[in-house]
Amino acid sequence: MSSNGEIEIGDLKIDNEDDVVNPWSVTSASQEGVDYDKLIKRFGSSKIDSELIQRWEKVTGKPVHHLLRRGLFFSHRDVHTILNLVEQGKSFYLYTGRGPSSGSMHIGHLIPFIFTKWIQDIFNVPLVIQMTDDEKFLWKDLTVEETTRLALENAKDIIALGFDVEKTFIFSDYTYMGQNSEFYRNISRIQKCVTFNQVKGIFGFGDSDVIGKIAFPAIQAAPCLSTSFPDIFGTAKVPCLIPCAIDQDPYFRMTRDVAPRLGFSKPALLHSTFIPALQGANTKMSASDTHTAIFLTDTPKQIKNKVECLDKNLQSFFPVRRLKQNA
Ligand code: TYM
Repeated sequence: MSSNGEIEIGDLKIDNEDDVVNPWSVTSASQEGVDYDKLIKRFGSSKIDSELIQRWEKVTGKPVHHLLRRGLFFSHRDVHTILNLVEQGKSFYLYTGRGPSSGSMHIGHLIPFIFTKWIQDIFNVPLVIQMTDDEKFLWKDLTVEETTRLALENAKDIIALGFDVEKTFIFSDYTYMGQNSEFYRNISRIQKCVTFNQVKGIFGFGDSDVIGKIAFPAIQAAPCLSTSFPDIFGTAKVPCLIPCAIDQDPYFRMTRDVAPRLGFSKPALLHSTFIPALQGANTKMSASDTHTAIFLTDTPKQIKNKVECLDKNLQSFFPVRRLKQNA
């Protein structure tokens, strides 16, 4: 608690040696990339350890996905609670999303979606996918019309992964907000629980940020409340599990503070590391800089050129390892 009685639900305070990891920027001073162990401590999440993996395999009776086994998903919040529910025969739902800032997604974006599909397949649970066209309008130099179009294009990339059509709901904020007042009601409820001071602390907003940005986190938080989707859940309060890369965690730190105050359980999370930029591990592969990423619409020739560039970078970053491999 701070001196004025407000709950402190996150912070962006970092020293010079720390990596910057937030929804808009991922950079590391080190060539080896983000120090994920340090990040777990800073964000207050839990490491995915062998005990959790063994428990997951015991509960499901199946080996875990290689993204989990190989540590690409490395951090979590409350996944034991989700496994408890499964053991008790109770259900949960999955929530993930995409901010449509480019005509196609890149291979880094696929990581949470591939993993989400695997979870949906093994647990046979509903999945909601939020396309935050409004977020990208507010943050990028794009018009409302453009982000609306990009959301539709990106939804095609997501659909191509083969989610269960009976159990998957993909929606864009601009469209769904006009169709379902329960979604907007929950956004309002969340907005009433969070002060400007708190979003400043969590997201680093300043006095000259537009008010749309300040209000937006509630829009990404609202799908964690199952009543935002009356057509799927009616009025039931169903727990939620979110697979995403760890850059999205600030949104859900905020949500985890608010949800119990509105009578919901805290959303659980599974965090992945970042597929690095082709230029090196000190930034993530990003749609904002096309040279850093391999896009799903790249031609074989474009991919070949980019992979050759990646190979050169790997040789300069890991010369010893490559020498051993070649020996
Ligand atoms: P966006 O569009 O930036 O990213 C979509 C998803 O991909 C993850 N991601 C990556 N994963 C691995 N390597 C990378 N290089 C990489 N770059 C991005 C992101 O963490 C995300 O999971 N605000 C969100 C959209 C959103 C959302 C959500 C995401 C709305 N609701 C719920 C996750 C969960 C965004 O702009 O994501």
